[in-house]
Order: sequence, then structure tokens, then C-alpha cells
Amino acid sequence: MNETETATPLKISVIGCGYLGAVHASAMAEIGHTVFGLDVDKERINTLSRGVAPFHEPGFNEVLSRNVGRGNLAFTMDYDDLANCDVHFLALGTPQRDEGLGADLSYIDSALSALTPGLHARGGRTTLVVGKSTVPVGTARHIDERLSTIPGVKLIWNPEFLREGFAVEDTLSPDRLVYGVADTEDAEKEIAVLDAVYESLLDKDIPRRVYNFESAELVKVSANSFLATKISFINAVSELCDITGADVTHVAEAIGMDDRIGSKFLRAGIGFGGGCLPKDLRGLISRAGELGAVDSFAFLRDIDAINTGRRDYVLRLARRLLGGDLEGRRITVLGVAFKPDTDDVRDSPALDIALRLFAEGAHVTITDPASLENVRKRYPSMRSKESAQEALRDAELVLLLTEWNEYKNLDPVATGEIVSRKAIVDGRNVLDLARWRGAGWETVALGRP
Ligand code: UDX
Repeated sequence: MNETETATPLKISVIGCGYLGAVHASAMAEIGHTVFGLDVDKERINTLSRGVAPFHEPGFNEVLSRNVGRGNLAFTMDYDDLANCDVHFLALGTPQRDEGLGADLSYIDSALSALTPGLHARGGRTTLVVGKSTVPVGTARHIDERLSTIPGVKLIWNPEFLREGFAVEDTLSPDRLVYGVADTEDAEKEIAVLDAVYESLLDKDIPRRVYNFESAELVKVSANSFLATKISFINAVSELCDITGADVTHVAEAIGMDDRIGSKFLRAGIGFGGGCLPKDLRGLISRAGELGAVDSFAFLRDIDAINTGRRDYVLRLARRLLGGDLEGRRITVLGVAFKPDTDDVRDSPALDIALRLFAEGAHVTITDPASLENVRKRYPSMRSKESAQEALRDAELVLLLTEWNEYKNLDPVATGEIVSRKAIVDGRNVLDLARWRGAGWETVALGRP
């Protein structure tokens, strides 16, 4: 990637080196800043320090290793190393709480407790803390109050919109930059510091909007909840297509031609997963409830229920295709990551379906180009094979659940020679069904006749 380097190099820390933080730290180094990434996970810090990506993300390894190699990106567990930074990004995870639907803010809380004792006035220079984590509306104001006792320290909430699989690209060329700032007289000063961080992005005319804290926080959860709503909407339509004989891919294509609707996020299938959409949707339901808007957000519970209902639907299909009982039946699952081009299996609909088939006594074999190692760590008894060819051997039913190119491009004739029974469920509506049927396969897609 050829990114223009900034004319104003700053010293930056990124606290939390998960998906978001590790990519953000590397991207900030790529545009010329000196960056320290901090995390409490020793193994992760060691891996990143060697310039090795701890997860599968196209293009990330190159940016990471290049910047570690040229000495402007380092990783640490020690907050003392961050002492002279101009900007501290908070990129900590905010997972769903063990109890209830709300977000767990304890990682942000601990990071602030560790960071703030080292923050101090720097001779009139602003030290900026920038929140990137997805948080319930109201969190930034609370953090701002906490930081307000330290002279020269300011907060901006700057939500991140990166998609896994496009993380580097989305960080360096985002659709928009959103700054949530406190309504104070000298807000311009702190905005100027964040503008200096993003100078090379702003030079590319990436739109930048300055709002208050609450708006910035709400932009993020609203965007993800809206995307989730689009997906569940088309999945509900897909159910009606199954009943009536309509084809959901045709319905989606034609409604997407209306500019007001747009064609993106209308791919029907087994539904959404990952570390963001499900969590942010539930977080918004929870926060809206706390704030007294419970009725207006009740529909988001249906969005969530439609989504998880897709998994039940595939289980019913599998039972039907195998004559009722799954006990001992050989089922191959193609793809377990929550979407292609990632090894992330958090809240993956594909993995959930595989586990539920397994729980019903089916002999399930999973395969995935990137995420098997992650699955094996968590579910060592799950049978897995590195290649689709090995996984497909003797299958009685094939479920295509994550649309990796490799599976989209499978040859129905050659595949038919490996399996013991030619039956396939296209859980992502990516196969040319006529071609598969032509090769003697029984095919079922979601929402297509
Ligand atoms: C999402 C948001 O897109 C991103 O802006 C935010 O910063 C983080 O959350 P990500 O989790 O990487 O990004 O995945 P995304 O590409 O949005 O897909 C989410 C899920 O929706 C996947 O499981 C995907 O398979 C599913 N999906 C997406 C559909 O089922 N149909 C679609 O049409 C689109």
C-alpha cells in the first residue's frame, strides 16, 4: 500500500491490540507516526513485536512487519513506555456482558486506571485520549469527566468502522471520520491534534464530521444495527420466497436498484455474526432500555431473533434432507468463519450450525481456509480437515456456510465423485444451482426455488 506519509509525525499509543488496535497501530505507523501498541496479553505482544500477525487479515502482515522493521512501530505491556505520547488511542474490546445484553466496559476501565497516573501537563501541549472502542451512548462523557482533573488532557470519541477482511484499507481510506468532542471553548485545539494524526487521510478528502460525544457514540451502534436490520429484513423476505416460489436474489437485486435502498447488505443466507453486529445490536437494545426507549427498540429484538432463527432453519433443512434423524449421518460443513477472508469465529452462524449438528449426533466434518486453528483450540473434539477435498469424502450432505471463493468455485462434477450422496445446502446463495443440478445434485438454497 502506498500511503502518503504525514508531514507532522506524532508519538502515538494504541491501547488494546486486538483486531482493531493492532490494525490501527500499524496503519498509524504506515502513515509516518511513531507508534507504541500496548496490550496485557504477553503472547500477543511477543507475536506482534516479531512483526507477525496474530490473526488472518489480508494485507495486515505486510504493514505490520514493514513498520516494525523500520523501527516506528513497537509493542509493549508497560504503560511507562507511553509517557511521552501526544495521543493515546483506546482500542479495547467491549464484549457482551456475561449477564444481559449490555457491553462490558471493564477493559476500558482498567486501561484508564493504568494510563491516567502517567498523564500530566506537558508545558501547554495537549495530550489527547481518543476513544475508538464501541461503547454505550453516555460512556465518553463519563470518561471525559474522569480525565478533566488532569491538566492538558482532552478526550475525543472517534468510532472505528473497519470491516474484517478490509481492515487495513478501511483504516487508511475510511468512508468518513467522526470526531465526538466536548462542547468547550478550546475544542479547536484538540480537534487540530486529531487532524494532525489523520493529516494524510484528510489530504485525500476523506469527509470529517465533528459532533458531540453522544452523536459520535450513536453513529457507530446505529450503523451496525442498521446493517443488521437490512440483513434480517432480506432474510425474512427469503423465508417468504421459500413459501411462495419467489427468488430472494432477484428480489434483492431489484429493490437494491432503488438508490434510496442500495444493493449492499441484502445478501440473504444464514445470517450475520462476528464480533460486532450481534454485540452492537444487543448493546443498543440494552442501552435504549436503560434510557427509557425500550418500546422503540423492541424491533431490534426481532432483528436478532430472525438472525438466530436462520440457524434453526438450516438444522430443519438438514433433518429433512437426511430423512429426519441426524444421528450418525455424515455432514460436511464448508466454511466456519463468520464471513470469508477472516479467521474470526466469534458468534459465527456457520460454526454454531456445525456445533448444533454435532450435538444432535451427526458425524460433522468441518473445513475452512483460515479458521480451523481457532476452532480446534475451543472445540478440540470437532472433526476438521484442512482441504475441502478431504472434508467432502463420503459426505451424505454438504452445507456451504461461509462463502470463501474456494467453495464458490467448486466443480460440481468433481465434487460429486468424492461424496457418497450428492446433496448440498447453499447457505450463502453463491452457487450456480442449475449447474449443480445438471451434475446430478439435490440442491437447496435459502430463499431460492
Ligand atoms: C461490521 C461493520 O460492517 C463494520 O463497519 C464495523 O466496524 C464492524 O462490524 P464485520 O463484523 O467485519 O464489520 O462484518 P460485515 O462485513 O459487516 O459482515 C457482518 C456479518 O453479516 C457477516 O456474518 C456476514 O456474512 C453477514 N452478511 C453481510 C450477510 O449475511 N448478508 C449481507 O448482505 C452482508
